[in-house]
Amino acid sequence: MATTSKPSSETLRDAFERMSYGPAPEADAPVRAWIAEHGGRFGHYINGQWVDAAAHFAVHDPSTGTELAQVAQGAATDVDAAVAAARAALPAWQALDDHARARWLYALARGIQKHARHFAVLESLDNGKPIRETRDIDIPLVARHFYHHAGWAQLLNTEFPGQHAYGVVGQIIPWNFPLLMLAWKVAPALAAGNTVVLKPAEFTPLTAIRFAELCHDIGLPAGVFNLVTGDGSTGAALVDHPDVDKIAFTGSTEVGRAIRVATAGSDKGLSLELGGKSPFIVFEDADLDSVVEGVVDAIWFNQGQVCCAGSRLLVQEGVADRLVAKLRERMERLRVGTPLDKGVDMGAIVAPVQLDRIRALCQQGIDEGATCWQPSWASTLSQAAGSFHPPTLFTDVEPSSTIAQVEIFGPVLVTHTFRTPAEAVALANNTPYGLAASVWSENINLALDVAPKLQCGVVWVNSTNLFDAAAGFGGYRESGFGREGGREGLWEYLKPIRAHEASPLPVIDVAVVLDEGSSAANNGSAPEMPAIDRTPKLFIGGKQTRPDSGYTLTVRSLSGVPVGEVGEGNRKDLRNAVEAAHAASGWAKLTGHQRAQILYYIAENLSARATEFAERIVSMTGDTLSAGEAEVNASISRLFTYAAWADKHDGAVHDVPLRGVALAMHEPIGVVGTVCPDPYPLLGLVSLVAPLLATGNRVVAVPSARFPLAATDFYSVLETSDVPGGVVNLVTGDRDALARTLADHDDVQALWYFGSQQGAAAVERASAANLKRTWTEWTGREWLDPRVGEGREFLRRAVQVKNIWIPYGE
Ligand code: NAI
Repeated sequence: MATTSKPSSETLRDAFERMSYGPAPEADAPVRAWIAEHGGRFGHYINGQWVDAAAHFAVHDPSTGTELAQVAQGAATDVDAAVAAARAALPAWQALDDHARARWLYALARGIQKHARHFAVLESLDNGKPIRETRDIDIPLVARHFYHHAGWAQLLNTEFPGQHAYGVVGQIIPWNFPLLMLAWKVAPALAAGNTVVLKPAEFTPLTAIRFAELCHDIGLPAGVFNLVTGDGSTGAALVDHPDVDKIAFTGSTEVGRAIRVATAGSDKGLSLELGGKSPFIVFEDADLDSVVEGVVDAIWFNQGQVCCAGSRLLVQEGVADRLVAKLRERMERLRVGTPLDKGVDMGAIVAPVQLDRIRALCQQGIDEGATCWQPSWASTLSQAAGSFHPPTLFTDVEPSSTIAQVEIFGPVLVTHTFRTPAEAVALANNTPYGLAASVWSENINLALDVAPKLQCGVVWVNSTNLFDAAAGFGGYRESGFGREGGREGLWEYLKPIRAHEASPLPVIDVAVVLDEGSSAANNGSAPEMPAIDRTPKLFIGGKQTRPDSGYTLTVRSLSGVPVGEVGEGNRKDLRNAVEAAHAASGWAKLTGHQRAQILYYIAENLSARATEFAERIVSMTGDTLSAGEAEVNASISRLFTYAAWADKHDGAVHDVPLRGVALAMHEPIGVVGTVCPDPYPLLGLVSLVAPLLATGNRVVAVPSARFPLAATDFYSVLETSDVPGGVVNLVTGDRDALARTLADHDDVQALWYFGSQQGAAAVERASAANLKRTWTEWTGREWLDPRVGEGREFLRRAVQVKNIWIPYGE
């Protein structure tokens, strides 16, 4: 423990030579007085009032194990009341103009600053993290978040035209950064015009309670912010509540998956910020002394209870021994102790159950053959009453071992070595997670070459654990989806005002000119076409392929006349298609200009066959010829739109408080399944595939199940348009069966599904396995209308944002 006993006869000279730390405690009396003022017992904050509950539970000081307060255990009825209050408050909150909402966020920011020390001490007491961190990092970032979002509230209508708030948002947060996670969620939600029901973590609800008090004190309208405390069952009641429009969650991947399943098919918005096993990559030209301090911040900050903790140290072989020796020396000097001591580096683990979990994982590491090292003073911690764990370093760790794969969520670092940059990237990506990474090298070319190859949402170059309200934060893969912070984070709390809610649809001008003598052109209505004796195949890896099933489906017009046949694709065909799409990864490396050229070429070739396509559509849908022509024409225009966007969907350079830059890069998601809507069989397909291609994704598309022939004709256009094999794959067949297979596939990174509500529910449930990004819709979209059929909404869904932080200066 970081307490020093002073020898009784110590002279000034002795003290100077010893240079040991004395205790420097931060006073906790004002905070304890605040708890006492409430009788040591807190209720929920619902509709602007404190509401008592039937049951309470105790929260403890992790550094002593003593009880701090009794807190309400939220029941389903409390959640009902809070959601009802949030719903009732919504119209007035949304009716406020931007400036008025900005004033409320500003008032919250000021309130937090005014009571900064109170919040900092309360957070340390409740969570066990050092006051140095709560005072200098957590609380200033909380205030910064509210200020930043006061700004977004002010600019909302100018910067996000055509968008509106989700409505009532349920937010569930963890215990590792209690007030900061509240700020990350509440500030953007309120700025965007939502009302909130927040459920803090059961271990650490006290700063959220104090925040609710602040809302009350500044006079925030009743029901805009509601707080229901409780455990996982309270969180589950919020997730399941039918009148919640969106759930935002931060916590374990396991619970994130459960929430994905619980919300499947409900039309609730969802953002998940989950766990990580982030790599900390050190190349041999790195400044090792800076690296050592970086490691301290990466894994011993907040006792390692950080979702983006640099918990896997990957070191280039030549410097591994030297770095490990330096680290051990530094670890020996780390101070673990009472969180309110201003001189400690590490405080207490949040709760005994978490301490037991960390200890069990360390033991498992030892049992699996890794070498465990802890400072010489580590054993003294076990005598403490509170939950303390020493900084711990594992070497000789197999990349496949438990401690190299599982999120330990404690002050435990595992190390591996690598020889080449390619090996570093492979090791770094050898995890289902993808939250963050640090890259250390004095060679900026090397660092910036590696950063885009890392499968994660944040990369810190020669730095670690940097956060700011202006930069998005969030994961790839099983670290979840959605971003928090900056412009990209605000999108999570907005959705487009659909044109039919706003104004009537425009009439699309028809410009397709049919060949003279075309029978369709002559009578101007849907012709009765004879069955066409031709069986289109599937299109996989750039080749026409027979379906594995050996079955063929007959396509009939609406009047029941057979108009053609398509192959019935199955699981094996989809597997082949996904494999082909992965093999076509070179598509992502083309420049935007090159991708644009190919999209233009597709448009050109489609245009040359416009009449044939229009007639084909009409043969299936029975629509008028002019409708078929309009669809083909709109498809050509849509291809132009995304060719235009291919080199324009820029990222951003965020203005973060750092000597350096945070580059927000738009990266493709990878292999994306698209299950196309039935109406507009050609335009629906083009509208979904083209934005994905423009942004560098590869696609496995299931064309309109009802009218697939336009899509199967389309592959002959692709074949003549220089689209590399595997970039677009088309598998026809039973829509929902194929969608389900794509949703189950672990190598599909995202799935867009436009079908039935039931099908959407199945897709979202199945997507929980690898937490693939889904976009599902079962209400009709007017695809002919460019305001809803194309544009940024599609592009945003087609990319994930990676923030690369690059400090500069000597
Ligand atoms: P957790 O994921 O169970 O808890 C996070 C929040 O979710 C809490 O507010 C909790 O009450 C709530 N919750 C729990 N079950 C729920 C459900 N079924 N529906 C809705 N809400 C629910 O995390 P826990 O158990 O506290 O920690 C376990 C492990 O999770 C940690 O060891 C760590 O590995 C990971 N974790 C990751 C975090 C991150 O920031 N990525 C934060 C906290 C934990």
